[in-house]
Amino acid sequence: MSKFYVTTPIYYVNDRPHIGHAYTTVLADVLARSHRSLSDATFFLTGTDEHGQKVQQAAEKRGVAPLAHCDETVVRFQELWNRLGITNDYFIRTTQENHKKIVAKIMQDLYDRDEIYKADYTGWYCVGCERFFTEKDLVDGKCPDCGRDVNAITESNYFFRMSKYQDWLIEYIQTHPDFILPAFRANETLGFLKKPLGDLCISRPKSRLSWGIELPFDPDYVCYVWFDALINYISGVGYGSDDEKFNAWWPASCHLIGKDILTTHSVYWPTMLKAIGLPMPQTIFAHGWWLTGNSKMSKSLGNVVNPMDMIDRAGVDAFRYFLLAEMSPGNDANFSEDSFISRYNSDLANDLGNLLSRVSKLTIRATGGEIPAPNELNEDDAELANAVNNAISSMECCLNSYKLDQGIDAAMNAVRAGNRYLEKCAPWTLAKNGDPARLHTVLHNAAEALCKVAVLLAPVMPEKMAELLNVLGAGQANINGIADLKNLKSVAGFVMKEASPLFPRIIVEEDAAAKAAPAPKAEKKAKAEKSAPAEAETPVNVVVTIDEFFKTQLKTAKVLSAEKVEGADKLLKLSIEVGSEIRQLVAGVAQFYSPEQITGKTIVIVANLKPAKIRGIESQGMLLAAKDGNNLKLVTIDGDMPSGISIG
Ligand code: ME8
Ligand code: MG
Repeated sequence: MSKFYVTTPIYYVNDRPHIGHAYTTVLADVLARSHRSLSDATFFLTGTDEHGQKVQQAAEKRGVAPLAHCDETVVRFQELWNRLGITNDYFIRTTQENHKKIVAKIMQDLYDRDEIYKADYTGWYCVGCERFFTEKDLVDGKCPDCGRDVNAITESNYFFRMSKYQDWLIEYIQTHPDFILPAFRANETLGFLKKPLGDLCISRPKSRLSWGIELPFDPDYVCYVWFDALINYISGVGYGSDDEKFNAWWPASCHLIGKDILTTHSVYWPTMLKAIGLPMPQTIFAHGWWLTGNSKMSKSLGNVVNPMDMIDRAGVDAFRYFLLAEMSPGNDANFSEDSFISRYNSDLANDLGNLLSRVSKLTIRATGGEIPAPNELNEDDAELANAVNNAISSMECCLNSYKLDQGIDAAMNAVRAGNRYLEKCAPWTLAKNGDPARLHTVLHNAAEALCKVAVLLAPVMPEKMAELLNVLGAGQANINGIADLKNLKSVAGFVMKEASPLFPRIIVEEDAAAKAAPAPKAEKKAKAEKSAPAEAETPVNVVVTIDEFFKTQLKTAKVLSAEKVEGADKLLKLSIEVGSEIRQLVAGVAQFYSPEQITGKTIVIVANLKPAKIRGIESQGMLLAAKDGNNLKLVTIDGDMPSGISIG
């Protein structure tokens, strides 16, 4: 038996939870449930970050005490986690006495050992992000994280000697490939560590901010909110108050976070732990962002998806499933109602729902409900068993690499294999033609596949999969997880019940409209079906006249400079020369060309394309490139040619 301790960030108590918060927490929950099902000793910590300027200001505005304000707003998180079936072992709030005591104790200890000192400091402060930035951190004089205005502030403050751990941290990251995942996030951190690391300002004068933990050695100051918040990961499991508990859980197996808080977790936190004298967490896993309309969901942008609405519409388990299946945790994912409904209908209503209803109907018709024992096996049976075994090993492996979307995909592949198996073996014909031996084998194997898939997906959809196992008659069989699957001899003898639809299809109004008008239906369908190619199909047999072709003005252009677009992994913003004109162009080539590689190239652009805004940045034209799956090459000019030359 091994140990698994997983954490989520502690969320700002002031904010309304949205699907971004729900994602991290559900992911942590699925990991926790899976590890429990593997009989690992498991601890799952989540909570709220309750000190700092934003809370103080919000409370002042409402005319209530900050703690009273927190007591009210924390409920929004707690209610959502309840609704989502989150099985955290503890909910930490940074305003709890125990946490405050531990933070003070750590600060005193670090001060006594000269890890913390006092000095004058001028910095740039972003109220929204509650963070200080140095001059060179700023982007166009604004906050590098949120783009809002920052204020210059000079004051005496206390500093943590973070800089002295820089070399150690670089070496630690380089020698521990699992420490920061995905690996490209470790590289991002190492990139950040190429610049000299400063010391960390860990205090705020009370004259400016009073809502925080008082420094034990100077009552004129409170603790910087991030220094306070990060300590939750140890105070929440008994550090300094319950040694036995602490030693049982620390170091954490995994701090799950979003990529927005990578630096605080991969630089501040490890150096703090090092100074305190504690071992490092095994893994810090930073997932991407949920976007809506290609921007990060945020309160100020007003594009927040409220999880409660989605749950009301489709149920808790479908929502959990969607979050985990849709996002591959290294990358960003786009949320849209369309993508939710199409995934729900295709994966859950169709593939999984159909398999269950077919198996249950056929078995009840054939035997009255008892799952029959199998007879001689053939290749078709082996193929199905293979898909199921693949799903089991893939899920186990993906749990360790945190790529749950791939584990889920393997499980759904097994479901689709189950449907294909039924179509190929046609048990309905076997029943009609009187081949009970083969019929029994087919029914048994399909039921067994379904049972195993349900166990694999139970951490993701706990209620629905319990229901499914109950319909299969496996409810009493004590198959609680992957570990038990290995001991499962056979599902023969389980008594099946009639299945009511597990995932009723979501009917979209447009569907009804589409039925009346057949032409747009085909379009809609291509969009809705997950398996359909994402790119528009090339109209291979469309003929255009030369006049039509020349409506499109293709021109040569020279790339003068390029830079990455903040928060968009795929985009580069290019400044290009088109003859005497300089234009700005946004292109989705960042994964294939670095700014250095593309600068200086002569490319081909569509020069008369209507300008469009991409991520709020105007793009005046489009460049041409050839894309083949994961490979992309720019269309360039063979030899020297000035910019602005017409192509044709
Ligand atoms: O940063 N997509 O709290 P926070 C995906 N209190 N995940 C998202 C997301 C999105 N659009 N938006 C938020 C804080 N998240 C600090 C943390 S920890 C010691 C202190 C998730 O309320 C994601 O996990 O801003 C992100 O890192 C976290 O919420 C930020 O939550
Ligand atoms: Mg945030």
